[in-house]
Amino acid sequence: MPLKSLYLLPHGGIITPGPYGTLDEKSAKLNEAMKRVAQEIEDDGIQLIIITSPHGYNHPSDYLVYFHNVFESWEIYTNQETKENSVERFLWQGNTDLAQVLFQSLNINGIRAAPLILGDPNFPMKIAWGETIPLSFLKGDKHQVLIFSTPMSLIADDGDSEKGITELKKVGATIEKLVNSTIFADIAVSVIISGDLSHKHDKDHQYGYHESSADFDKITMEWVKTQSEDKLKELYRLEPTASSCGLKGMTILQGIFDDSEKKWINKEHVYECPTYFGMTVSSWRAE
Ligand SMILES: [Fe+2]
Repeated sequence: MPLKSLYLLPHGGIITPGPYGTLDEKSAKLNEAMKRVAQEIEDDGIQLIIITSPHGYNHPSDYLVYFHNVFESWEIYTNQETKENSVERFLWQGNTDLAQVLFQSLNINGIRAAPLILGDPNFPMKIAWGETIPLSFLKGDKHQVLIFSTPMSLIADDGDSEKGITELKKVGATIEKLVNSTIFADIAVSVIISGDLSHKHDKDHQYGYHESSADFDKITMEWVKTQSEDKLKELYRLEPTASSCGLKGMTILQGIFDDSEKKWINKEHVYECPTYFGMTVSSWRAE
């Protein structure tokens, strides 16, 4: 079954208020867009979600494929008036057989990947906000998730981004080929990239303000609509001052777009900046 849909989704906790919080107008817009995405994934009958975030278990030089049949996250919400805490446990199903397939495919294509196991594959592996926030909209037992992380060292501090771009695009192309292969013939798949835009929008936040932040976010949204590699490369030029955690994942998406025989059409392209960083809920469907 071909790859059905692609998503670039935010992971700011501000879009999930919990039982005590309220959403401001900008966060509410992102929250509503996330609910539309969740509905679309359900309506499409998606059985497997392949997700990567910049805030997982990161190895210095290797991609890590999480070899677990269960993932969990505990979210703590605090009532600001009574200081009472509410704890919610999220659980998602993994699939170690498909993790093995992804791990092997990456290595066969010359991408250094390693399996990651915490205790035992059937023990629930704790995951952090990068995966939890987008997946929290997809609670339930209808989907399995396959999680991998990218190496920390991929984008060189000296600004030499070519090697990183080439490798990340290769990861995207590998996933695209794998998901469209006979191994996945009976499995409806979506890829979710969890990542946010520039973190330099607020002079009062510890990350501070940089004038490139607005350009970074504007060009990201142009890239969302055009999938142009030239736009992506403009983002690499801005990233050292704009500080985005989504660029590696966006480059994986570029690899999927460029490798695919299908044309990918942008559907959602919601953008808001409700805090010190910009966020987008963006989606693409194959024509
Ligand atoms: Fe982030």
